[in-house]
This record gives sequence, structure tokens and C-alpha cells, in this order.
Amino acid sequence: MDTCGKKMIVTKAIHKRRSIRKFKPDTITREQVETLINAACAAPSSKNSQPWKFVAIMNEDERERVLDAMELGIERFDMENDFELKSRMISGARHTLSIMRTAPVNIFVFAPNLRHIGESRTYYETLDDLVSAQSVGASIQNMLLSATEMGLGSLWICDIYFAYEELTNYLKQDGLMIAAVSIGLADESSGKRPRKSMEEVTEWR
Ligand SMILES: Cc1cc2nc3c(=O)[nH]c(=O)nc-3n(C[C@H](O)[C@H](O)[C@H](O)COP(=O)(O)O)c2cc1C
Repeated sequence: MDTCGKKMIVTKAIHKRRSIRKFKPDTITREQVETLINAACAAPSSKNSQPWKFVAIMNEDERERVLDAMELGIERFDMENDFELKSRMISGARHTLSIMRTAPVNIFVFAPNLRHIGESRTYYETLDDLVSAQSVGASIQNMLLSATEMGLGSLWICDIYFAYEELTNYLKQDGLMIAAVSIGLADESSGKRPRKSMEEVTEWR
């Protein structure tokens, strides 16, 4: 409840949000994207460090260039690796890429101070990375909930890791690339995807 005793709409957005994998071609305004990024920036963060940076790709040509880089990366990953489940993972990544190509906005999320995977040396550095990653995750979730509230569809994406080198070389940002978020008007509707029950994931003491 808020201070006026009204039920907060955030709960509604939490339960209404779905991962959207089909977007209408309609454009999204710069103002709408600013609202999403402001929501992301309102997230809590460890010691208020705000360890995030957003690269919002709205220009069509730029979108093609970034996603061409991602495509190259996925193909390289496919050629250079051989492990069980690889083909399933790669086909998932190609599917995600095709979704991103149809999204009018793709926001890449970076953590400028986060060490690259395997670079944390001390216990403190590992903890620092862990809390930064949690803070950035909170900012992404804020963005998704704000999009839901605005009637926009969204998709949280980590298949970008298959093209980590190519994307980071192209986007040229400090720190670690954490995720991407596709935003647009949803061109599909989906029911709630299955969740574990509260009983299954909760231990009461
Ligand atoms: C960290 C993270 C990474 C994800 N990466 C991808 C992705 O690369 N491609 C994709 O299609 N969905 C991705 N998703 C979306 C999940 O598949 C989705 O949240 C899950 O299946 C539950 O569906 P729902 O979001 O509609 O409730 C990701 C979600 C999270 C939280």
C-alpha cells in the first residue's frame, strides 16, 4: 500500500510482464526510452554506487551494424567451440538475434567498474563484482517493469555473451557487458510462463 492507502500498480506490472519475442515495427520515442532509463537509474545499488551504463540503439543503421557484429560473433563461437548442447545454445542465440533485429530499440547494459570474467583476484574483488552485478540486475528489472507499465514489450537478453568480443569491440565501453534489453510494441501475447511454487522455493523458520 502507498501512503494514500491505494494498491501500488507495480505489483500489477510485476505479474503482467512477459518476455516478448515478436515486436511491431512501430517506433518508440526518445522520451519513452528516457523514461525507461530513468527507471533503471532509480534502482537500488550497493553503497549507491550506480554501477551501470546504458547504450541505447535507436537508429536503424546503427542497429544493423551492432547486430551484424553480434551475428559474426555467434558464427565465430559456433566454429570455435564444440561441446554438448552447443547447437541448441547457438540456435537459441540466432533466434534471439532475429528478435533483436525486429526490435525498434535495443539497450545494451554495461557495468563500467566490473572486472572481466576471471579477473577478480581477491575475495573483496569477487564480492565487489557480485554486488555490482546484483545492482545492475535490479536496474534492468526496473526497466522491464517500467516498460510494462507503459504498455511496451521487453526482452532481457544474455545471448549477447556468444558474441562478447565482437559486440564490445564495436560498442567500445569500459567494464563488463552485462545484458541487452529489446524494447518495442508487443506483436504477440503470452500467458504466464510456469513458475516454481512459493512452497518449493521457500523455507520458513
Ligand atoms: C538473465 C536473463 C537472460 C535472458 N536471456 C535471454 C535471451 O538471451 N534470449 C531470450 O529469448 N530470452 C532471454 N531471457 C528471458 C527468459 O527466457 C524468460 O525470462 C523466462 O523464460 C521466463 O519467461 P517470462 O520472462 O515471460 O516470465 C533472459 C532472462 C534473464 C533474466
